[in-house]
Amino acid sequence: MSLVPGWMPPTRERWEVLVSAWQLFYPFLGNLQWLINWYGMGKTSKDSRFNIPGRIAWFTMESPGFLTLLYIMKTLPLQHGVTDLPWQNRVLAGLFVIHYSYRAVLFPYLQPSMAPIHVLVWGFALFFQICNATSLGCWLAAYGPTTEEAWAATGSFATARFVLGIGLFYLGLAGNFFHDEELREIRRSEQRRQDRLVQQAAADGKSPAKADVTKHYRVPEAGLFKYMLYPHYLCEWVEWLGFWIAAGWGCVPARAFLINEIATMFPRAVKGKWWYVEKFGEDKVGKKWAVLPGVY
Ligand SMILES: NC(=O)c1ccc[n+]([C@@H]2O[C@H](COP(=O)([O-])OP(=O)(O)OC[C@H]3O[C@@H](n4cnc5c(N)ncnc54)[C@H](OP(=O)(O)O)[C@@H]3O)[C@@H](O)[C@H]2O)c1
Repeated sequence: MSLVPGWMPPTRERWEVLVSAWQLFYPFLGNLQWLINWYGMGKTSKDSRFNIPGRIAWFTMESPGFLTLLYIMKTLPLQHGVTDLPWQNRVLAGLFVIHYSYRAVLFPYLQPSMAPIHVLVWGFALFFQICNATSLGCWLAAYGPTTEEAWAATGSFATARFVLGIGLFYLGLAGNFFHDEELREIRRSEQRRQDRLVQQAAADGKSPAKADVTKHYRVPEAGLFKYMLYPHYLCEWVEWLGFWIAAGWGCVPARAFLINEIATMFPRAVKGKWWYVEKFGEDKVGKKWAVLPGVY
């Protein structure tokens, strides 16, 4: 059953327009961050009555992505008479859902604390999720290759390429999780330190303030943080590069996803480096790359 007949899921013609607009215009939107000196999220979030609590904002802006993709995978094949999607389509859809089960559901649950997110940033992220999941989901469900023969025609060594791409995807996912975890550990260790102080103060008969690790930052050092400040971003790009390789170089939605992520996250990493230098000083941060070793 279609949510909005002809629009969600979209017809092939509407999907083609969406994919063209998505790949041409979104990088432009992402790059506007170079001109705008405001970002209402994370380190640069500020008090505002338009803020949404971090965990709620994150969960509600990221979840519609994988829900949209699942919905399209359920409805679109039947509308096009596809009754048995090849395993490659199912595996790729599964990878998308695995990634976003972590990113949308587990991530906000695991974070010891999350800064509030401004409703405008929330809106942009939601827009990104719905466009991206529609672009990719329709390709996987009906408008990309839907037979073994069509997959074989995506290039020589299609299966080997698929396996290599998936290997890269998992490497990126593991790296992304590992470095997210290092950032969580900074807050957890601060929480433990503050808890000890609170206990000590209580034992001394004082009435101490409650431990609070909100917006507590340190320069992370573990893993690739030794060399750069945003290895979790780089690992996420490796993930989606792997996905694109598995889907085939001709998969425009997978390419657009990677390019649009870089367009959103690269300015954020560069400005994040400026933030680190301002807060912790050139000595502690200066030699680390922002996100691309050897480039910036
Ligand atoms: N931002 C994007 O546009 C985007 C797009 C696609 C995917 N992602 C992925 O989503 C994940 C989170 O992205 P993000 O932009 O929120 O990353 P981030 O700015 O590095 O923050 C990640 C989390 O770690 C905390 N944190 C950051 N730096 C810290 C430090 N130096 N010490 C202690 N805690 C620190 C943040 O707390 P606070 O919230 O309190 O600042 C936040 O909860 C990443 O894995 C990224 O790959 C992000």
